[in-house]
This record gives sequence, C-alpha cells and structure tokens, in this order.
Amino acid sequence: MYPTELLLLLLAAIPYTCLASNSAERFDELLTVRPLRDGRVATRFSFIISQADAQPRAPQMISEEDIPQHYSLFPLSLGQVLREYAVTEAHLSLNAGKWDYGRWGYPDDSAVAPGAELWAWMGDSELSSIDERWKGLRNALAGLFCASIGSLDELRTTSPAYAFRPEGALPRFSTNQTHRLRYASLPSEHVCTENLTPFLKLLPCKSSAGIASLLNPHQLFDADWHGMGIHVMWSEASGVYLQLSFQAVFDPVRLSEKQKREFSFQSLFDRTISKACPVASESSVEVDLPQNAAYSITPEPSSFRDKVGVFDIKEAQRLPLNVSMRYAEMVFQYPLDPPDAQLMDFEAMRTLTGSTQSRGRLNLSIRNNRAHEIRLIYIETMPWLVTFYLHTLELTVDGRRRDDLLTRMTYTPPEAHGRPTLFEGRLTLPAASTLRLSMDVSKAFLRYTEHPPDAQRGWDLSPAVLVPLSAGNNSASLRGRRVYTPAVLVDVATPDFSMPYNVIIMSSTLIALIFGTIFNLFTRRFKEVNIDGTTEASEQDGVIS
Ligand SMILES: *[C@@H]1O[C@H](CO)[C@@H](O)[C@H](O)[C@H]1NC(C)=O
Ligand SMILES: *[C@@H]1O[C@H](CO)[C@@H](O)[C@H](O)[C@H]1NC(C)=O
Ligand SMILES: *[C@@H]1O[C@H](CO)[C@@H](O)[C@H](O)[C@H]1NC(C)=O
Ligand SMILES: *[C@@H]1O[C@H](CO)[C@@H](O)[C@H](O)[C@H]1NC(C)=O
Repeated sequence: MYPTELLLLLLAAIPYTCLASNSAERFDELLTVRPLRDGRVATRFSFIISQADAQPRAPQMISEEDIPQHYSLFPLSLGQVLREYAVTEAHLSLNAGKWDYGRWGYPDDSAVAPGAELWAWMGDSELSSIDERWKGLRNALAGLFCASIGSLDELRTTSPAYAFRPEGALPRFSTNQTHRLRYASLPSEHVCTENLTPFLKLLPCKSSAGIASLLNPHQLFDADWHGMGIHVMWSEASGVYLQLSFQAVFDPVRLSEKQKREFSFQSLFDRTISKACPVASESSVEVDLPQNAAYSITPEPSSFRDKVGVFDIKEAQRLPLNVSMRYAEMVFQYPLDPPDAQLMDFEAMRTLTGSTQSRGRLNLSIRNNRAHEIRLIYIETMPWLVTFYLHTLELTVDGRRRDDLLTRMTYTPPEAHGRPTLFEGRLTLPAASTLRLSMDVSKAFLRYTEHPPDAQRGWDLSPAVLVPLSAGNNSASLRGRRVYTPAVLVDVATPDFSMPYNVIIMSSTLIALIFGTIFNLFTRRFKEVNIDGTTEASEQDGVIS
C-alpha cells in the first residue's frame, strides 16, 4: 500500500517538474502570409525553439563526457548531432525552384539557394579537426533529413571569407579560440515529402496543432516555389536557438476557376487551424494587407501593426481559424508592364555560353535599379571541372570597360578531382546602370566513373552569391542578406554510355536466337499424325507441289 501511494505521488509530481525544467526553453511560432504583386501568395512558417541557458559545446571538451542539456522542447535528435560535432552555428536549406527576386522581392528567409546548401561555423581544436567534424555533421544531417547532402563532400566544400558571416555570436571557449566556416551547396538536390516528415518530427506539436497543422505536403509540394531551412545559432542573450522555417509561394490565380487571386487557408493548404499548440509561448499569423486594392479579410484580425493584420492563435474563440482574403474585382489583371517601383535594389542574371564541350564563357550581368551606387560581394564557387581564366575577366558598364569596379579579389584555384574553385571580389555597381562581367572558362574531361548516373542532363553548377554591403542610406537593413543567381547547367564531354548497352543487347539477342533455334531442333520430335487419313494426303500434296 505505502509504496504504491508514493509511486502515485511521484507520478503526479512529474508534470510539474517537467514544467519547472522547461522554463529555460521556449517555443514560438509565426506564420506570415504576403500577397505578391503577380497574384501569388508567399507564405513562411517560422518555428523558433530556444534554450536560454545553453552554450554550444566547446571543441576542446569533445573527448570528455558532455554536460546534460534540456530537451523537453528542443529536438533531441538535432541537439545530439550539434553537440557530438561541437557545432556553434549551422544553416541547412533545401529548396525547389528559382526564387524570382524581380517579381516577389526579397524573401523572408534569405536561404533560397536552389537545391541544398549547408554552412557551419565551428571552433578550432587540436583534438578533432574541423574537416572531420564537418564530414560527420554532413552525414548526420543527411541521415536526419533523408537528403543526399552526404554528397556535399570535399569536391564541393569551400570557405568564403567575406560572405556567410555568423548570424548569431561566436562564443570564446578560450583566449586563442578561432572559429572557421565550411560551406557547400548542391543545386541538384530537391526537397520532397521525405524531407518534410523529419522536419515536422522536430517540432514539439508535430503537425497536429498550431500553425504546423497547415503544413500539408499535397499542397506545399504543388506550390510554385517551396523550401525549408534549419538555422541554429547562439547569442549571449537568448542562448542556443533553433529556427525551423518553411517557405512556399502559391498561385491562387492558377488554382481558381474564375481567375481570381482571393485565397483562404482552406484553398491554400486544404486545412484550417483547429487547435493551438499548448507549449507555444507565442503563436500567431501575420497577413500583409494589400495597399492598392480594395479587399476584405475575414475573420477580423486581433490587432493591426503597420499594414499587417495579426491573428493570435492562443485566443481560443478564434479557432478554427480560416483566414480568407477577398478582393473587390472580377478577374485578376496580371501586371503586364514592369511596375515602376522595383522591389529589389539590383537584379542579377548569370549564363554560361559556348557551344563546345571544352570551353565556354561565363557572363554575369547585374542591373542596379537605384539612383545611387551599390557595393556588393560577389562569390562564385565551382566544382573543379570548370576552371576560370582570370586574365580574360572583363567588366563593362554600358559597353565601356570598367575593370576598376572589381576590387579585393581572391581566387582559390581548383585541384583536379578534388578541391573546388572559389572566386570572391567586391563589385561596385554605378547608379542606374548594368554591369556585365564575363570570363572564359574551360570544362574538364572526366573519367567515366566520375559521371553522374544521368550523365546526359549535365552538371548543375552552384549559384553565385551576391551580398550587398551598403546601399546608400539604408545600409543597416541590408546586413545578412544574400541574393542567389539561378544555378546553371554545364555540359561536359560525355562518352556514349549507350554503346556498351547496345553491344550487350545485340549480342544477347543473337545468342538468344541461335540458342533458341538449336535447342528447338535438338529437343522437338517430329511425328506423323493421321486424322481420318485426309491430313496425310494433303501434306503429300503440299510436298509434291
Ligand atoms: C590555445 O592555447 C593553449 C595554451 O596556451 C594551447 O595549448 C592550445 O593548443 C591553443 N589552441 C589553439 C587552437 O591554438
Ligand atoms: C474557409 O474560407 C473559404 C473562403 O471564405 C471558404 O470557401 C471555406 O469553405 C472555408 N473553410 C472552412 C473549413 O471553413
Ligand atoms: C557574354 O559576354 C560577352 C563579352 O562581354 C559578350 O560578347 C556576349 O554577347 C555575352 N553573352 C551573353 C549571352 O550575354
Ligand atoms: C542619402 O544620403 C545622401 C548623402 O549621403 C543624400 O544626399 C540623399 O538625399 C540621401 N537619400 C535619401 C533617400 O535619404
């Protein structure tokens, strides 16, 4: 009797102790919905889990037993990976499609590189090298998110010096501590349902409550653009914090029968929010309200903040929440002419030209949309199979040579069958003009084992990254922003892989035919069959004629 009562008491006490230990952990969720100029709707789910009292693991301590951490809200599977490899800051993104900066403006989460991108800041230590831990991190994350980012290997890893600055703070583990960056991208890797499922598993309420209940794979992977991002950072004030984000751009006009751009949660996600996540400290939906159109939004937002309607999901009387936006117009008129106000300060386009399989020319053109000068960092990483000829580098502005606009250039040449090329420089874009940069490249001749399984598609080359440094007066708002150019495909000399296949098919057919005939002759027995004596006669007739 007595021990049972004690057990019951203990069981009753467990939820309270859990809650008490929770106090350092916090979970916030936010959904932003932004109608775009071209009738599309950009949505971003952001889940932030923070451990206020935690610090990234010091790489010097990697051989010792780790200090225990709280994992009531912070996902254990990800936390273990980060501590095992003593990662201070990590950013992983998996996206499908090309973010159209010109039409959609700057994304809410900068990580919109096509395909997979991973970068991490790690402390240096003699105990285990950064490259070893980087390899472990890649493979662990590949396993965790079911993505082939394990192939982000040494052939794709670089350490750009100026872009990819830490977004949080870097702790000082000892007086001579240094942190280093590793960066890799793989444009051919796409996001799919098998990546979303492990993503949802990291959330405290999974996809059963809160805004995450809208993450419906059938609708998300039908969107024009979609991608997810996992960002882990540390700062003195908020400790270790994890930001999980999912972005998608929907096209309600395409889905509507009457060519209208109105949308609701039901039409976008095929779901509504019916339950709030009980462990979320803050849970809200923010809808950008259109500026130059007559509209109506139901239900009425809980509050308004600077042209944004805010819905608080913690208010129980709002549930189920089905935010719906209607426009007072019969059909949506696509903006045919480029609207006057450019959304982006600059727009970039990159192409690889040249019809031969050994040489080509890389062209980059950047248009400055503003009436002031813009300075940016330009980073180009290429797998070793594309080599730059820097002496052919040319910069022109409106047809005039302006090689002085590229400064602080660094170049890491590629190593055949190994290290990739890294090219970095500072570009100055003169006001309201287009800068064109071009240089010759050569394409390598690969060993036959180095070709990808679908060799005919060509190789996807990583996007170039442009990081604005300052743009006139609003320089502060541009920190940490990155603009990616679309990935390009390169066609290298490919052996005719169909040749051995043809030979095998041809010889197999011949062998089958010959073997079949001979086997037939050897095993079949010929016998005369008499059916009422008529068959014999006709057969004989046949033989005679
Ligand atoms: C830092 O300094 C300590 C002692 O001064 C030395 O043992 C250690 O190797 C140094 N670490 C690094 C990463 O340079
Ligand atoms: C959500 O709102 C839309 C538009 O007002 C409506 O068509 C739909 O039936 C609503 N769905 C639910 C489940 O209330
Ligand atoms: C690429 O740049 C070169 C040299 O500036 C130019 O002659 C060529 O027309 C450009 N090609 C494209 C496709 O823009
Ligand atoms: C930006 O700063 C320059 C001087 O540095 C000033 O002439 C210009 O008017 C400012 N522009 C705006 C939009 O404030």
